[in-house]
Amino acid sequence: MSKKIEGFSKLSKAEKINWVTQIHFEDASEAKKIISSYNHNNEEKQKLHDEFIENSITNYYIPLGVAPNFVINGKEYTLPMATEESSVVAAACNAAKFWASRGGFKTKILGTQKIGQVHFLFEGKTKQLQTFFEQKKPMLIDSISSLTANMEKRGGGIVDIRLKDKSDLIEDYYQLHLTFETVDSMGANFINSCLEKIAKTLQSLAVDHEVFLKERFSIEVIMSILSNYVPQCLVEAEVRCPVRSLGGQTGMSGMQFAQKFILAIEISQKEPYRAVTHNKGIMNGIDAVVIATGNDFRAVEAGVHAFAARNGIYSSLSNAFLEGDDFVFKLKLPLSLGTVGGLTQLHPMVKWSLELLGNPNAKNLMEIVAVAGLAQNFAAVRSLITSGIQKGHMKMHLLNILNQHQASANQKEKALEYFKTQTITYSAVNDFLKSNP
Ligand code: MEV
Repeated sequence: MSKKIEGFSKLSKAEKINWVTQIHFEDASEAKKIISSYNHNNEEKQKLHDEFIENSITNYYIPLGVAPNFVINGKEYTLPMATEESSVVAAACNAAKFWASRGGFKTKILGTQKIGQVHFLFEGKTKQLQTFFEQKKPMLIDSISSLTANMEKRGGGIVDIRLKDKSDLIEDYYQLHLTFETVDSMGANFINSCLEKIAKTLQSLAVDHEVFLKERFSIEVIMSILSNYVPQCLVEAEVRCPVRSLGGQTGMSGMQFAQKFILAIEISQKEPYRAVTHNKGIMNGIDAVVIATGNDFRAVEAGVHAFAARNGIYSSLSNAFLEGDDFVFKLKLPLSLGTVGGLTQLHPMVKWSLELLGNPNAKNLMEIVAVAGLAQNFAAVRSLITSGIQKGHMKMHLLNILNQHQASANQKEKALEYFKTQTITYSAVNDFLKSNP
């Protein structure tokens, strides 16, 4: 049977489920059962979720965990974390507790500006385009006043608009490069609407421009879109403590621990294979809070990794060093986040997560998310340079392995006890279950 279909989006939800299960599954009725068991039993709630996307047929669960004991700029927080990776929340909790007793996390917002671009072609002379742009700039800005009025009331809007000559990259290629402040919204829709309107204005002003008319020059807009590279929307999180207070917990002295930790970070700064995994560990914390608070984790990921490569080599986002008697550990990264707009008022769990955080504004959320990344990075590097990562990882993963083997409640209880002192591997768990039926 063909697996192609015309007009799928026009089918009802039940028809979509019928089609997809009958065409793609050996046991359609079993596949349907699974779909329906993940559907919300409250029809209204389900409808809300269905309307987020096209062709929704059910929900896809990711656990929401909470990580208490975070002290950020002197204030106590419990972080919401949506993640499927077993050790992430436990690691966050450990790091939060560790640093709560050493002064907590401190943060700084280094910028909140976002970028959008109109990419276009112009065949005339750059000088002519520059003159045209300088002349028409007020009109370009004016043309979006109805879009910016509300944002300006909230303290945001367009900060800057520039013409950029990119003809060294591609023949006749130019950009309008715009800088925005979007206050508490992530601002993607606002920015894109402004850009599309400005692009239309640009094109139509060019049509009527005498110099261009005479020479038959026109502006051809290729595309108008925000950039997810936001190196001016930047936050820094930091922890510090006297070196001596790092000692004791790992069988190393405070100085031995600090030096090994700093060296591990230096490796991540200089060696891209390690840097990618190092930053992945940071993103374990970042993404979990970004997802729980209904933000766009793909945008965050893209922007963060571009930032990590800003100096021409992919490098660690975090840095560690000694300052006097102190060990200092810092994370700097771009985060474009919103606490209004998007899903924030719509998704009940997003609203809940934001309330858990005390309904932060976008800047506060940037700070909290950066802290989640730094905490996660600390926990990972600490494990790597002491016990190794697998001990904690496999401990958290044990329940997953037991569930994969469909262990009974009794077997799980016995296994959890037994593996407190034994190395956890798939085969060790398998053997244990065989000898403890
Ligand atoms: C695993 O999800 C993340 C780590 O690999 C991060 C790291 O190596 O720093 C443990």
